[in-house]
Amino acid sequence: MLAVTLTSPSVKDPLSAIEVGGRPDPAPADGWTTVRLRTAALNHHDVWNMRGLGVEESWLPTVLGSDGAGVDADGNEVLIHPLIANPEAGRGDETLDPRRRMISDGIDGTFAEVIAVPRRNLVPKPHGLSWESAACLGTAWLTAYRALFGRGDLPPGSTVLVQGAGGGVATAVIALGRAAGLRVWVTSRSEEKRRRAVEELGAHAAFADGERLPERVDAAIDSVGQATWTHSLRSLRPGGTLITLGATSGGAVDPQLSRVFLNQIRVQGVAMGTVDELRRLATMCAEAGIEPAIDSEFALADAKAGIERMVEGRLFGKVLLRCSA
Ligand SMILES: NC(=O)c1ccc[n+]([C@@H]2O[C@H](COP(=O)([O-])OP(=O)(O)OC[C@H]3O[C@@H](n4cnc5c(N)ncnc54)[C@H](OP(=O)(O)O)[C@@H]3O)[C@@H](O)[C@H]2O)c1
Repeated sequence: MLAVTLTSPSVKDPLSAIEVGGRPDPAPADGWTTVRLRTAALNHHDVWNMRGLGVEESWLPTVLGSDGAGVDADGNEVLIHPLIANPEAGRGDETLDPRRRMISDGIDGTFAEVIAVPRRNLVPKPHGLSWESAACLGTAWLTAYRALFGRGDLPPGSTVLVQGAGGGVATAVIALGRAAGLRVWVTSRSEEKRRRAVEELGAHAAFADGERLPERVDAAIDSVGQATWTHSLRSLRPGGTLITLGATSGGAVDPQLSRVFLNQIRVQGVAMGTVDELRRLATMCAEAGIEPAIDSEFALADAKAGIERMVEGRLFGKVLLRCSA
């Protein structure tokens, strides 16, 4: 089968880390099945793997990619939950299993024609959800869902600041936040992305990086890290919540402890979500007609062109790979 395989991670030249070519078809273990993928979606996690961040030598070669949707061995249309984990080890929440692993972290991933996955990781694709939309939900959208409706605990009418409007997670937070009745403010480095966040995704207002806001917000959702952390903290009302989900620009932040304790700020980490949350997210998108913003779509054989858009930070929304017709 055709696949995009991580062979030699490189910090400086991530595109040299992968090979697009033939791989043996997967043989599912007990309790696992195969999925013939229709569409897969990129995440920044794929770029971290290509740069070698957290990658173990023993994993190589591994097929890249965590998100995707397709048809399982029994003919069911499914979405793939990208976390291999045991809910019991996480006290009922598989995202808290200390031994959890993302698909693609040493387990062959979704940038392929066929993948083997545990049966418990399959969620039925609702009718009315396109293959393109279904492929986007596994990582970025699931994390956004948990940030807003799980750990974030943000009732309708709350004002939320989303840093870095153009990214996969950020565009998901904007769309889901709007649908849930939040007031959504965004920042982006790019004027064009600020305009699109308002006109195409429905953000209520957009601000340049670091710009002073008209008033303080209930929560800041920050997947950027170092470049936006101080602005996120400064933007919060006393008692507000900083939801941290990523560190695209680096993780060396000034924690500003006195601001945190004097203003009684809650700093809340969020990492992925459960299979059950993915099921509810898919239902929400299908029933509410929410469609993820798609930046671009490429044939699996042309994956490098799509990955390049993410490496260069040019994208607005999700980059997709067409794995089969
Ligand atoms: N906790 C989790 O479970 C989880 C899940 C998914 C993703 N993540 C993490 O979240 C981050 C975003 O993931 P993604 O898939 O959404 O990535 P992505 O689609 O590549 O988006 C990258 C984002 O970073 C912003 N950005 C990059 N460099 C920046 C800088 N120097 N200053 C300001 N903004 C910058 C971009 O915003 P603009 O171009 O609009 O400024 C854009 O929003 C990654 O670090 C990823 O590892 C974590």
